[in-house]
Amino acid sequence: MAGRLADRIVRSGPIPYPEFVEACLYDETHGFYASGGAAGRRGDFLTSPEVGPLFGAVLARWMDDVWEALGQPGGFTVVEAGAGRGTLARAVVAAGPRCLEAGTYLMVERSAVLRADQPSGIGFASSAHLPDGGITGVVVANELLDNLPFGLLAADGDQWRSVRVGLEADQLVEVLAEECLPPVDIAPVPGARIPDQGSAAAWTTGALESLDFGALLVVDYTSTTTEMATRPVDQWLRTYRGHQQGGRPIDDPGSQDITVEVAVDQLPEPTSTTDQATFLAAHGIDDLVAEGRQTWTEQATTGDLAAVRGRSRIVEAEALRDPTGLGGFTNLEWRVGC
Ligand SMILES: C[S@@+](CC[C@H](N)C(=O)[O-])C[C@H]1O[C@@H](n2cnc3c(N)ncnc32)[C@H](O)[C@@H]1O
Repeated sequence: MAGRLADRIVRSGPIPYPEFVEACLYDETHGFYASGGAAGRRGDFLTSPEVGPLFGAVLARWMDDVWEALGQPGGFTVVEAGAGRGTLARAVVAAGPRCLEAGTYLMVERSAVLRADQPSGIGFASSAHLPDGGITGVVVANELLDNLPFGLLAADGDQWRSVRVGLEADQLVEVLAEECLPPVDIAPVPGARIPDQGSAAAWTTGALESLDFGALLVVDYTSTTTEMATRPVDQWLRTYRGHQQGGRPIDDPGSQDITVEVAVDQLPEPTSTTDQATFLAAHGIDDLVAEGRQTWTEQATTGDLAAVRGRSRIVEAEALRDPTGLGGFTNLEWRVGC
């Protein structure tokens, strides 16, 4: 990947940052996701669905709440964007939400390698693209927006300049390129860098347009552009590989995940914003944990699978609610016609 990027720079000059991120993550041959990078215990980073099935069970309750608010329509669709291998899809369907009794769970995932491992059969569908429109239901994106290609701007005197990836002594380096306007109104401060998350904003607008009636839920680690301008770039633009923080984004491109905190001030205004711990509490995590604890207490001596699953909910809930970890994520919700 580094060699191919270097050839491209020699041919056409320094690469705009979004195109660099796009290649590192999604190049069909050498990109991180195309070559098997993924969430999960055996993957490169752990997400809420990968902690265990409890997260999906809570989301199933949220989906039923939306379905109730819409008057229990038939043909309800759950669209999950960035569905990976379908871990969340399996957990939601296993929880048996009423909205899916006559509905469909559509997993949208751009990596063909990950799509090949998704569940199939009645009630499941899979695609590389979001539907254009006509959805009555919900669109859910867990840790997708932080993974969409983004631009990088650096303060240079009284201007913002876009950062590109160039070549120096055969090594990839960051170079300051053309002057540009920031994505939100923010003055350049010496040393400041900010992300341009136009593709996350465009994705959100597209997801809202796909919904005739229902809700969009985005779960991610978030910040604001102004706040990021005051922090060192390596605090909000991170890389991961094999559950460890990786190197600089320009190091060994394609071998590591590149992720950015989501600047909520660059997105359309949501209907509501909560932290994950609050969202989970509002949608019944305590009941589900109490149910699990009771099953464990009643059936622990037989040690059957239901008992072990019941006990596992207690541990999963701790991880999902941890305010310094997944519990501190932000849940952004947009309602459309309900
Ligand atoms: C960080 S992973 C999260 C996976 C899963 N949602 C989870 O929480 O475990 C992001 C996933 O989004 C996929 N992805 C990135 N851009 C996408 C897009 N525009 N449409 C659908 N999937 C996309 C990636 O291939 C990757 O599998």
